[in-house]
Amino acid sequence: MRNLRVLLASIVFAPASVVAYTWPDRAYDVIEEFLWKDRNTFLEVPEPCSEDTIGQQSTSAAWLRTAYHDAATANVAAGTGGLDGSIFYETARAENVGDSIASSVSQFVSFYGRYISYADVVAAGAVVAVQNCGGPNIPFRSGRITAPEAGPSGVPLPTDSLRSQTAAFARQGFTAKEMIGLVACGHTMGGVDNEDFPDINPNVGVASFDHTVYFDNNIATTYFNGTTIDPLISGPATSNSDARIFASDGNVTMRSFAHSQDTFFSTCASLLERMINTVPKEVRLSEPIVAIPFKPRDYLLSLLPDGTINLGVTVDIFGPNVISSTRVVTMHWNDRDSHRCASKACSALPVSQEANAPLAKRNGNELQAYTFSVNATTAASFSSFWFTVDEDGTGRNVVTENNGGGNYPVDDLLLLVPQYTCQGYLNGNLNITGRITVAIRSSVTPSAVTLESASFGVNGQPIPQIFDGPAAIGTSPALSPSPDYVYYTGLVPGPIQANGCSTQMEYSATIDGVVHPGQILYSGCTSRASTRLPESTCEYCGFPCTS
Ligand code: HEM
Ligand SMILES: *[C@@H]1O[C@H](CO)[C@@H](O)[C@H](O)[C@H]1NC(C)=O
Ligand SMILES: *[C@@H]1O[C@H](CO)[C@@H](O)[C@H](O)[C@H]1NC(C)=O
Ligand SMILES: *[C@@H]1O[C@H](CO)[C@@H](O)[C@H](O)[C@H]1NC(C)=O
Ligand SMILES: *[C@@H]1O[C@H](CO)[C@@H](O)[C@H](O)[C@H]1NC(C)=O
Repeated sequence: MRNLRVLLASIVFAPASVVAYTWPDRAYDVIEEFLWKDRNTFLEVPEPCSEDTIGQQSTSAAWLRTAYHDAATANVAAGTGGLDGSIFYETARAENVGDSIASSVSQFVSFYGRYISYADVVAAGAVVAVQNCGGPNIPFRSGRITAPEAGPSGVPLPTDSLRSQTAAFARQGFTAKEMIGLVACGHTMGGVDNEDFPDINPNVGVASFDHTVYFDNNIATTYFNGTTIDPLISGPATSNSDARIFASDGNVTMRSFAHSQDTFFSTCASLLERMINTVPKEVRLSEPIVAIPFKPRDYLLSLLPDGTINLGVTVDIFGPNVISSTRVVTMHWNDRDSHRCASKACSALPVSQEANAPLAKRNGNELQAYTFSVNATTAASFSSFWFTVDEDGTGRNVVTENNGGGNYPVDDLLLLVPQYTCQGYLNGNLNITGRITVAIRSSVTPSAVTLESASFGVNGQPIPQIFDGPAAIGTSPALSPSPDYVYYTGLVPGPIQANGCSTQMEYSATIDGVVHPGQILYSGCTSRASTRLPESTCEYCGFPCTS
């Protein structure tokens, strides 16, 4: 953790030289914002670990157990199974007994989409859970593919023999010694629920494994000093699975954990990382998703009713101790012909800023966000933007953030028309997610304009295909207010979920054979998205979404 902080601190001052990242990178941005910047409030789902009191079910512990049960049926020799989200279909199995798995599986449903698979959410859940309870940072790679159906069973049971448990871990790719580590790394959080295992825990509620809710080496220290309360050690002999596993190498591994919290942390980080990275052979995982310390999000270029172009963007500054009341961030831009922005005319201060919004601490990091909204005529328009950061507001220490030298690019051939864009609503049986209206520069003619929806499943349904689009483009609902732009509009097919929380829409235009992507339009429930659509949007459209 200390190393990561040092790394992030150095990135803040030398971005381009450390991380080879150039904005925008849609696939990376979505996951980076999800995992580090709490874009979809995933990080807020588990209570702060300290508030998960012993005796209550802990969401963090549940997420870790769920990731293990998903991964535990891997067959590494065959290259099948592992962390593939198949747990979604497997909650009715006896080996997955318990509310902890069932509720995690349905919590995860709200967070997957086109750029982050359900299986990735399960894996990210383990990373977040361990972090939330004070454990080590586990690098997260994305790219898992969600299984279309249940996989084989085979999660070890507490009543299984040591031999059979060892064989199950071997199938999963872990040695007998690594099995000891992995079980201790899991059984430092949470406990055994009386409702699920009344024979093992005869008392009402959840019996803690090691007295604390935290990710710590108490599981090992209490094992040796006579104060263990692990129900899989002190319960009925037949189910004393932790006792058998912990002692299976003559206590060598557990002694090393009891002796050193650092050893426990580094061993667990490495074993848990391997656990979540055990994936079917066809899966190629990404490089670890690291936080980008200075990055635009919620960028949207739109055509307003009065024919003005609006550029909206928020920049996140992220890292240890980045909250500052003196820092001045200024946005600068170039117009489309690069001659109207002479004499520093094209610059603006934020319209708002937010510190730690809404949850900025992850792994010791803070977040401060600066939101900009600037207008230009269609003639002037925009071609790129960049920022200057005056760290203490004195003008003595001004750093330029220009995307590694090339500025943040603006594509003004394709704009959104928010006035005529809305999320659909359930109207009879119509399968309409919404309407998107775009404005395309009249100097070009698109060969295709594509509107797509990514609507996700609701609890209790199998994970569906997340794509319903593309839509045919319709006629303009209204005339563009500017001769420089032509409106294109269409209804976006696909079912909208009743709660509207899991729907995203996307748009793009193909111009001279090149695809110009638009932005992701999130539906109402995404807390930190300025590109989100209003909750009840059909009225907002100014005309019926479905006509
Ligand atoms: C032989 C292997 C294992 C056996 C027999 C076993 C057994 C159990 C049992 C019986 C429970 C209680 C579940 C409930 O009350 O519903 C439990 C909880 C838990 N297990 Fe394991 N486990 C094993 C390995 C692991 C591993 C490898 C991990 C993670 C790396 C893990 C993580 C957890 C967690 C976090 C809980 C607490 C869940 C909660 O409090 O909601 N377990 N385990
Ligand atoms: C046993 O270890 C735990 C955790 O380190 C500690 O809180 C407790 O005081 C110890 N008890 C004894 C009797 O040493
Ligand atoms: C391992 O440690 C436990 C707890 O102190 C003890 O009960 C057990 O006898 C030890 N087993 C071996 C093989 O050392
Ligand atoms: C941009 O133009 C719109 C429409 O004229 C106006 O409502 C808004 O206040 C303008 N924003 C800025 C930052 O000037
Ligand atoms: C909506 O989609 C569902 C599932 O694909 C289909 O069964 C139904 O007929 C569709 N309804 C309409 C009105 O097209």
